[in-house]
Amino acid sequence: MNASDIKITRAQQLKQKPQDESHLGFGKIFTDHMFIMEYEQGKGWMNPRIEPYHRLSLDPASTVFHYAQEIFEGLKAYRTADNHIQMFRAKDNCRRLNRSAERMCMPEIDVDFNYEAMKTLVEVEKDWVPHSEGTSLYLRPTMIANDEGLGVHAAKNYIYYIIAAPSGAYYPAGLAPINIMIEDRYVRAVRGGMGFAKTGGNYACSIKAGEEALKKGFSQVLWLDGETMKYVQEVGAMNMMFIIDDTIVTAPLEGSILPGITRDSILTLARDKGFKVEERRLSVEELMAAGESGRLKEAFGTGTAAVVSPVGMLEYQGKEIVVNNGEIGKVTMDFYNTLTGIQWGKKEDPHNWITKVC
Ligand SMILES: Cc1ncc(COP(=O)(O)O)c(C=O)c1O
Repeated sequence: MNASDIKITRAQQLKQKPQDESHLGFGKIFTDHMFIMEYEQGKGWMNPRIEPYHRLSLDPASTVFHYAQEIFEGLKAYRTADNHIQMFRAKDNCRRLNRSAERMCMPEIDVDFNYEAMKTLVEVEKDWVPHSEGTSLYLRPTMIANDEGLGVHAAKNYIYYIIAAPSGAYYPAGLAPINIMIEDRYVRAVRGGMGFAKTGGNYACSIKAGEEALKKGFSQVLWLDGETMKYVQEVGAMNMMFIIDDTIVTAPLEGSILPGITRDSILTLARDKGFKVEERRLSVEELMAAGESGRLKEAFGTGTAAVVSPVGMLEYQGKEIVVNNGEIGKVTMDFYNTLTGIQWGKKEDPHNWITKVC
């Protein structure tokens, strides 16, 4: 299959696009079209097409509803100042989708074809890419298992679709530090589990801790490893970086955290800028001690949604540490500016992360 196999059926009536881009929010409205194709064991992926956005009709016994065999991705298309549309490391999302697929016994999708599917959809929906500072068109590629019948086994039928949602600036009022609770009861991933895969189950199991943290006034939960509950891992939808003395420390990719594309980008930029970088296990004791002694200079999350999110305070078992007086650190701000600069086409792209859509 290649891009020319994608059949495009345009919507007869287009939705009204939001006039006020300051209230776009995230994932609330969707564009006029979607990409969709089906897979059948023995036949492979078939019938790739872009058609008007529509509901899916699935059998109540469909595999996805019962055994959660599903995976997804999240990436953005950006409008540049000279009115081009571009994507950031989209093929890395295609590769990660395939790694998730392998873990979940789901069929892979050719990376180049999947990229073409995303690109074609963005081209069709180019008028939906918002114009205001910090806004983007969020893409949600999703694969679901769709055998009609019960029984726990790898399904033989799948649906892959891509939907797109214009998204507002993550920080409409400017970058602001968040408070994080280090979770000491629930865990997200275990050794040999599926923590590295972008699959719904990982998020379903995180909701309870997230809700409880929210009630206590924290915006995110920082997970500890599921085996010993000693080592810090990642937060709900971001990887975490800690600047201890002059070194950037982040959890290693050992199978339990999502290998974030923003994480990889920041580590690359950090090495470019001459920072010492350590991908290693960081115990919560070491982190709290560094916070108490003043050696923890800055902390921030990295992810597609927020790009870089400064941390102002960390709480663990009732003890709070304030990071950088609760203010945005210099290094955090610099990474935010560099990466958003590349994504929106305002800064040079030395690693060829950007691909032009139109
Ligand atoms: C659990 C989790 N960790 C980390 C990330 C950050 O990944 P990325 O930088 O690819 O968006 C995400 C967001 O997708 C996530 O859901």
